[in-house]
Amino acid sequence: MRWSSVRVRSRIGAAVALWIGWVSGGEAWATVSEPVVPVPLCTTMDGEKNRLGKRLYHDVRLSSGNSLSCASCHSLEGWGVDGLPTSVRDHGPRNRLNTPTVFNALFNIAQYWNGRGANLEELVEEEVRVQLGSDWNDVVRKISQDEGYRQDFARLYRGGIRGENLRDALAEFLRSLITPNSRFDRYLRGESGAITAEEQAGYALFKGLGCVSCHQGVNLGGNMFHQSGFFAALDRDDPSIESGEADRFAVTGIAEDRRVFKVPGLRNVARTAPYFHEGYVATLEEAVTVMARTQLGRELSERERSLLVAFLRTLDGTLYGECP
Ligand code: HEC
Ligand code: HEC
Repeated sequence: MRWSSVRVRSRIGAAVALWIGWVSGGEAWATVSEPVVPVPLCTTMDGEKNRLGKRLYHDVRLSSGNSLSCASCHSLEGWGVDGLPTSVRDHGPRNRLNTPTVFNALFNIAQYWNGRGANLEELVEEEVRVQLGSDWNDVVRKISQDEGYRQDFARLYRGGIRGENLRDALAEFLRSLITPNSRFDRYLRGESGAITAEEQAGYALFKGLGCVSCHQGVNLGGNMFHQSGFFAALDRDDPSIESGEADRFAVTGIAEDRRVFKVPGLRNVARTAPYFHEGYVATLEEAVTVMARTQLGRELSERERSLLVAFLRTLDGTLYGECP
């Protein structure tokens, strides 16, 4: 049964591969039969808008107290996360959900654990209000006082410094945050020695056990929603989170969507601890054990666990792709 679902998903993987091939300018490889496809080597983007977005990403004037920027919680040197179970906001209570990485977010079908962000522009709109505690009019006013920004926006955007243009520049920057060339991607592209025999066995197990039925495509996740704790509850579920405040139910209102989340991508997952939507699992070993138990109804042997972890460690990519 698991194998048939894996085959169906593989077809989705192939469709994703074709799409990625298209957005990356027709870059070709011969691995579409695998359920996981490589991150494209580079993204096509507007270099100037991207640089402008990068500056905004690090600018604390986007926060109400001039103290936090996007990078405070999604550090680029720190693989797009803050390493905390949950993060502290500029104003307002502590977050209740773990901070996901910004790297490879462009490949997700939707943003946030429950997918309420239809696209990156919508996400930026909310992050500035909710995470940085700012009113957009204040942000526009503060950014307009900066001569450098005034010149750049006047040159690159019709209408100069406006909320929608700030959102566009930030989204443009987010679209550049890919992590190509992991050892695993090099293996998928035909470099058979890029991962060890042990790591290959880990990948075979990842497919054989059925992890790949949810974690697949370019991000090994991010392309579907699934109930968390399918076979057994996670060790520490916060009932107030699952009651519909932060799960997919909050978006759709459909009863079956309770405790349903976007399947997180696993690129660079060895670097983005702690794990799960509440961020309470500190190690990859434990996360893998919990997954097998709660999503597949299976207790892993020590050996299986270490093979899976060895495979997941091959998914570290290079921060930022560079177009040749
Ligand atoms: C105080 C910490 C904090 C700050 C500051 C912050 N974020 Fe986030 N970010 C989060 C949390 C927490 C989530 C997950 C919330 C959820 O799913 O409901 C998130 C989600 C995201 C996601 C979705 C990733 C995914 O896989 O779904 C992206 C992309 C993102 N933030 C980008 C940004 C940008 C751009 C900024 C600056 C405008 C920013 N964030 C500022 C904490 C923060
Ligand atoms: C039925 C779908 C499904 C299957 C099968 C599945 N997962 Fe998951 N995985 C999820 C969902 C949903 C989450 C988010 C759970 C949460 O946060 O409550 C997740 C989270 C994870 C995380 C944590 C990622 C993070 O950034 O927090 C890891 C690691 C992981 N899975 C690995 C695996 C491995 C290894 C297997 C196979 C043993 C597996 N998964 C099988 C759906 C699945």
